[in-house]
Amino acid sequence: MSVRDKLVIFDTTLRDGEQSPGATMSVSEKIELALLLEQLGVDVIEAGFAIASPGDFLAVTEVSKVIKQTQVCSLARAREKDIDAAVQSLLPASNKRLHTFIATSDIHMQHKLNMSRDEVLDVAVRSVRYARRFVDDVEFSAEDGGRSDPDFLATVIEKVIAAGARTINIPDTVGYCVPHRFGEFIGEIIQKVSNADQAIFSIHCHNDLGLATANSLAAIECGARQVECTINGLGERAGNAALEEIVMAVNTRQDLFPLDTNINPRGLVALSQKVSEVTGFAVQPNKAIVGKNAFAHEAGIHQDGILKHRETYEIMRAEDVGWQGEQIVLGKHSGRNAFLSHMQALGVALDSAEQVEQAFDAFKRRADQGQPLTDQHLLHMVSQLTLS
Ligand code: KIV
Ligand code: ZN
Repeated sequence: MSVRDKLVIFDTTLRDGEQSPGATMSVSEKIELALLLEQLGVDVIEAGFAIASPGDFLAVTEVSKVIKQTQVCSLARAREKDIDAAVQSLLPASNKRLHTFIATSDIHMQHKLNMSRDEVLDVAVRSVRYARRFVDDVEFSAEDGGRSDPDFLATVIEKVIAAGARTINIPDTVGYCVPHRFGEFIGEIIQKVSNADQAIFSIHCHNDLGLATANSLAAIECGARQVECTINGLGERAGNAALEEIVMAVNTRQDLFPLDTNINPRGLVALSQKVSEVTGFAVQPNKAIVGKNAFAHEAGIHQDGILKHRETYEIMRAEDVGWQGEQIVLGKHSGRNAFLSHMQALGVALDSAEQVEQAFDAFKRRADQGQPLTDQHLLHMVSQLTLS
């Protein structure tokens, strides 16, 4: 990668994210999240699967009414009835995209669709052509693309681009791919497609093996310029690639990914918390970027390093993704330096070496009990000591 390109961030929290069992969102919740996603700077909001239910149809329509800049997208299988519903649902949108898909892997074509390769190719091309009668920006997804035969996949892609698809998405629908191979696979497909320069290549990775972010990044290194992802990695089964992880990996490793996104990372934590509140899905404390411990240093050696020079143990700054306040947590692994610096910040003066020893010893005994130590606990603890 030599020139700076843009990486399109396609958020599907409201569609694939909502497919997470138990994560159903009301129309008003979707509107609220869509406004926050627009504020965050995502390029595309996939608001729903219009034909799936009247609620999904309504959600796409209502989101289309309030979102002014960001592109709003509606999903449709490669069928006229689905495409008609998606087109109708997007009527109020100022900037719209229609996303149609059909599976291209042999296992899906044989056992799910009961269609031959030629039939799938024909339906894919006809669907894209049909969708282009109503919407300029059409995306085509080759479902289970990661397990598809590369020659057949390249043929389908070449033909749907010729039929008018502007974005070609190659999903790892079942989260089966592994990073090195997936990156090579995407690069190989782009090479094989003679009209590849007429479309943006996209990936959409599921997290069944915990590899969704790694697979997405490998594909980006090999030429993908749109990534489909969700806040907190919400999504079908084990979820999708997490938006916050992709964005911060790209921002932090500009040496590997010299790409621009429109995302303002300072909004990541607030949006993560909102999605968690709306869906009732707690964010695990050690979740990268948005987990409450993601920037919390407890180990004494780490705390000491951070106090001397932040970059010893910090590759990103907590405040840059929207965290506020102190990220050093006092616990049984903390050292004297971090303890003293924290007590100083609380306005507690420990004047002699004996006082420091007494207070530090009391702190360690308390921390050993395994409870989290808040500032109130610490202040109470020193007030109980008769400092010599
Ligand atoms: O996982 C998948 O393949 C999808 C497609 C509809 C893009 O969600
Ligand atoms: Zn998906």
